[in-house]
Amino acid sequence: MELKKYKDSVNGEPGSVKNLLLVALAQEVATAYFYWLVPNFLAGNERKSIGDTFLKYADDEFNDHATKIKERLEQLYTEPFPVDTLTKVDALKGFTQTPLQTQFSTLTALHHAIEAEEVSIAHYEKCLQMEEFKNDPVTFAMVRHILGDEYEHLTELKNFLEDINSTQD
Ligand SMILES: [Fe+2]
Ligand SMILES: [Fe+2]
Repeated sequence: MELKKYKDSVNGEPGSVKNLLLVALAQEVATAYFYWLVPNFLAGNERKSIGDTFLKYADDEFNDHATKIKERLEQLYTEPFPVDTLTKVDALKGFTQTPLQTQFSTLTALHHAIEAEEVSIAHYEKCLQMEEFKNDPVTFAMVRHILGDEYEHLTELKNFLEDINSTQD
């Protein structure tokens, strides 16, 4: 059976579809946490609209992206995926260690957010180049959908940054 063969061939290998999806899941959860946490502690220009945008992104990252990836992992792999993997990826370190009640200037928050989106975009672009993803239309379509959202996020964040920079001139 195609799917079984596919499962066995990637199981546990570094750089495998499974690992790349686990890293993606961790990045989504970490980014969602950042977007959800930071609006409470924003200071500076455009605070309200950036905070509202971050909360909308938190919803996209968690309820759409992370949820879809988790469901796909559950469809592809019969064994439970180790939750502790999520705490080991680099993507989490910067965000989950964000102390509560740190004040963020909107400018700093935007720079963090842009970096997070760029990391996600690079990761998903890498996935889409791989034969293993090209041979799995369902996972490929999921990643392409998520990637499209990340590009939208990035563009919107860069527009905010431009607006803030232009009002500071
Ligand atoms: Fe995302
Ligand atoms: Fe995003």
